[in-house]
Amino acid sequence: MSLIERTRAGYVAAYGREPDGIAFAPGRVNLIGEHVDYNEGLVLPLPISIGTAAAWGRAAGQVIETVALDFGADRDRYILGAAPPHHPVDWRSYVRGMAEAMAARGANCGGLNLAIGGSNPRGAGLSSSASLCVAIGRAWAAAAGLAPDPRELALAAQSAEHNWAGVNCGIMDQMAIAAGKPGHALLLDCRDLTTRHVALPEDWAVVIIQSGVTRGLVDGHYNARRQDCERAAQALGVSSLRAASSDLIEAANLDLRIRNRARHVIREIARTEAAVAAIEARDLVGLGQLLRDGHASLRDLFEVSVPAVDRLVDLANAAIGAGGGARMTGGGFGGAIAAVLEAQAVPAFLANLTDTFSAPDGRQLTYLIERTGGAAAGARL
Ligand code: GLA
Repeated sequence: MSLIERTRAGYVAAYGREPDGIAFAPGRVNLIGEHVDYNEGLVLPLPISIGTAAAWGRAAGQVIETVALDFGADRDRYILGAAPPHHPVDWRSYVRGMAEAMAARGANCGGLNLAIGGSNPRGAGLSSSASLCVAIGRAWAAAAGLAPDPRELALAAQSAEHNWAGVNCGIMDQMAIAAGKPGHALLLDCRDLTTRHVALPEDWAVVIIQSGVTRGLVDGHYNARRQDCERAAQALGVSSLRAASSDLIEAANLDLRIRNRARHVIREIARTEAAVAAIEARDLVGLGQLLRDGHASLRDLFEVSVPAVDRLVDLANAAIGAGGGARMTGGGFGGAIAAVLEAQAVPAFLANLTDTFSAPDGRQLTYLIERTGGAAAGARL
């Protein structure tokens, strides 16, 4: 049963009637431009074929009732303004946070019944929470009879993450999901939220592979990295690291950790620009080298990788050879890796990795193949 059908069936089982509509929001994989969005940098994510569905129906009164199909049909009943964010953070935090954020933007829909289902695994670094928020935002807007601007939707989803989940995230995930186009990378300038769709050659594929280490951004490492970057910018006298240069960083009196964070950010922004040029020149060799360099920088300078992910990236890069490359993707501390290679090389690549990698959690290799050029086809994650 497809995600949409499953979510529809879950809605009918919970509320005894058909939904008025079903909204969908994808997850995302970031190709390059990691930990630069909150430094006003350039990022290059791609919406993926798995994500979150929210079946919705208008209801009398003011109650927003939600059933979470992937949490044993767990329920939430919420009235706008009724409760402050609660801890520990769980799926309810996102639903309530998003409802508040949409209402704060003037989208009113009275009572609402929701049923939510997802195909995007949590903790895989593929933005399951941003996908959940945008799906709810789309359902909410449809119930209110509005067609929101993707930027507004993304900003609402980011505010739910900041204010209700306690993660001081950037805007990349939400924009990739709200404004992305299947089979295309989204070049996003996080300084002004301008975007450009970058078509990926049809004979390339993006393969997303799980490391088997589940991560959560709420554990503090993410916010700590952001603080390091803010300290660096402050010490350099710039409003964000986007405005810093290599010369400025090398000349400044920074401690090594802070200097390395800043080095990563400005080099990663340059790599993102170079990656767009490589894609547009159909230069898979050049792109592969940028992905490898990006991973090394996240591992050594930004220190957000973990040994299981490094091993998987090394094995993937060895299996790909010069014709592409692989790197960790997302916030780090576990999650998935992304590999870009020729579509026709994917079966041999996966066979090779299946032989050489054993996941720390003992599971089989789990992966998702995203075909490029518009014909997204997901499998087995
Ligand atoms: C998480 C955050 C994003 C971004 C990435 C790292 O996915 O939600 O805003 O900072 O980490 O690039």
